[in-house]
Amino acid sequence: MNKNQLLRKTIGVLYGGWSAEREISLKSGQAVIKALKQGGYKVVPIDVDRNFVKKIGNYKIDIAFNTLHGPFGEDGTIQAILETANIPYTGCGVLSSALAMNKIFSKELFDYHKVLTPDWFVVNKSEKKPNKLVFPFPVVVKPFMQGSALGVTIAKTKKEFETGLKTAFKYDNQALVEKFIPGKELTVAILGEKTLPVIEIIPIKGKFYDFKAKYASGGSKHIVPAKLDKKVTQKVQEASYKAFKVLGCRALARVDVRLSPDNKPYVLEVNTLPGLTETSLLPDAARAAGLSFLELVIEIINISLKK
Ligand SMILES: Nc1ncnc2c1ncn2[C@@H]1O[C@H](COP(=O)(O)OP(=O)(O)O)[C@@H](O)[C@H]1O
Ligand SMILES: [Mg+2]
Repeated sequence: MNKNQLLRKTIGVLYGGWSAEREISLKSGQAVIKALKQGGYKVVPIDVDRNFVKKIGNYKIDIAFNTLHGPFGEDGTIQAILETANIPYTGCGVLSSALAMNKIFSKELFDYHKVLTPDWFVVNKSEKKPNKLVFPFPVVVKPFMQGSALGVTIAKTKKEFETGLKTAFKYDNQALVEKFIPGKELTVAILGEKTLPVIEIIPIKGKFYDFKAKYASGGSKHIVPAKLDKKVTQKVQEASYKAFKVLGCRALARVDVRLSPDNKPYVLEVNTLPGLTETSLLPDAARAAGLSFLELVIEIINISLKK
């Protein structure tokens, strides 16, 4: 769609929601609303609540720009409502959103399609805790359907492992246990068919790239593009693009990767609705590829509306 066509459309920016990541979504939403308004576009800000289905017809929007994070907004639920209401929306579709939000299904697909991912197993809340691990400590324990590192524990001892399971079970009834991959924290944004420059994240606050490192001011440093040699960069980008593809993603996503000391990229997960504040990772990667924040927002709309 060209600029004039888009200027005539009403863009509903969906933000907020009621997941544990609501606060982050409020910021992503505000950043997108501000940029679109400054660009002269018609915007309807929509703080999504449980009455969204009832209200959707009243908003009179032509396009939905989704900046929700976490369950309901990022897992295919809102996407299905928008499909039903016949409103075109940004980002991944129903199935890929649901698959990417579910770390267990994602890892099954990664294994099947040979996308390198840390070794893993699942513990159900109802079962007795496992008395022996398949791989040695440290391990990472995480809820299988959250984001923002909520409920994630790096456990070095049996006691920490048990506490980690308890923490994960506060969120979900299944916990994913992974082998800890030392090395670098990387993330790779995919925009349409393009893989953006790799970002290296240096956590400054927090124990690892946890909630505090992610969101506290000065919590982490982004190095864009990551200082990796060309071959390694290419390997990381290829693995990320493949992870995006095997989950059936479209338009945009951000792939979290651990790069081991021997330079193997282990894919952790695909985020189908990455943070969109002006200092978030995806906008940083886009800037390194020459796109301003508003240009990124418009690009996301245009790529998403292409069938
Ligand atoms: N297997 C692992 N090895 C090392 N660090 C990990 C591993 N899994 C997760 N982490 C750390 O925890 C963070 C959050 O985990 P991730 O799987 O990306 O879940 P979330 O959806 O919460 O972001 C990662 O960015 C990384 O710093
Ligand atoms: Mg992550």
